[in-house]
Order: sequence, then structure tokens, then C-alpha cells
Amino acid sequence: MGDQLLNRQAALELLHKYNETDSLRKHAYAVEGVMRYIARKHGQDEEKWGITGLIHDLDYEKFPSEHCSKTRILLQEHGWPEEYIRAAVSHGWGICSDVEPHSDLEKVLYTIDELTGLVVTTALIRPSKSVMDVTVKSVKNKWKDKRFAAGVNREVIEKGAQVLGIPLEELIDDTIKGMQEVAEAIGLKGIGV
Ligand SMILES: [Fe+2]
Ligand SMILES: [Fe+2]
Repeated sequence: MGDQLLNRQAALELLHKYNETDSLRKHAYAVEGVMRYIARKHGQDEEKWGITGLIHDLDYEKFPSEHCSKTRILLQEHGWPEEYIRAAVSHGWGICSDVEPHSDLEKVLYTIDELTGLVVTTALIRPSKSVMDVTVKSVKNKWKDKRFAAGVNREVIEKGAQVLGIPLEELIDDTIKGMQEVAEAIGLKGIGV
């Protein structure tokens, strides 16, 4: 598949083919939303950033023990360009892959992947259950509470922010805003209280 055939619809179909779990699809939409927001903010290729966000965990549901490496194989089988494959695999740098994020796209993906999890949990403890009410302060307040969203690796986020040279607060703000744009799709529009 050449770049010209690679569009959001193709990426979405692939995501749905390999991810039937609602929470995994929502995670993909959240990461896509944040990637799009940050790409737009910095004048980057929004489609490319968004599509990469959408498929970064492609293998996770069906091949959890081969996370990252299986995504490479799946995307290759579907004829995806190496640029997208490398970016997807690099999100697991130091965890499930040894591919270090190099491009801005890769560094942002690496950083915001975990951060979306922290924003989801912060939204869910609010009475409204809405991402629209999440603030940078509310996320930062939970940073040192290791029992809160225990699965979220804060060190990865901090390392990513450092590599990017962007203040953590700004990245948290970007992540919240990107997720607010897709609030409906990720089930965090709130319960209207
Ligand atoms: Fe992952
Ligand atoms: Fe992820």
C-alpha cells in the first residue's frame, strides 16, 4: 500500500479487525485525538500523526506477548510504509521494543500514550465523569499518588517530555484538549450533571 492509499478509513478498518475490545478501541481514538491536536498545533501532518495514533497498539488485543513486534508484522503484511511502522513500534521503547523515538511524531506518541490513561482516570473520578472538566492541575495533583492509575508509568511520560523539550504542564494541557475533541468517541463526554 502506498501513502496515497493510506487513509483514516483504512486504518480504522485495520484497528477494528484486530481490536474488538471497546476499551482498546477507545484508547486508540484517544491517542489519535491527541496526536491530531498536537500535529495541528505545530503545523505537522495531522493525518499521518492521527493514523499512527490509531494503530499504535494494533497487536495488543490478540498478541499481547508480542506487543510492538507483531504490529510490525501485521502492518508489513498490509503493505504499510516503513515510516508508520517504525513510529508505531517506537512507542514501546524500553518496554516492548528497542526502537528509540527519533522524529517529533515518535517522541510525542511515546509521551502521550501513557498520559491519556492518566487523563481518563482523572475524568472518571469527577462527578460528571467528563474529560471536559479535567484540568492540568487535577492531573498534576495525582502525579505522585502511585496508587492512582497505578498502571500509568509516570517515568515514561517525564522521560518523553524531557526528550521533546516541552514542559510537562504543556503536554498535559495538549493531551486534555486533544481528548476533549474526541470526548464522545472515547465515552468521556460526561453524564450531564
Ligand atoms: Fe502499547
Ligand atoms: Fe497505547
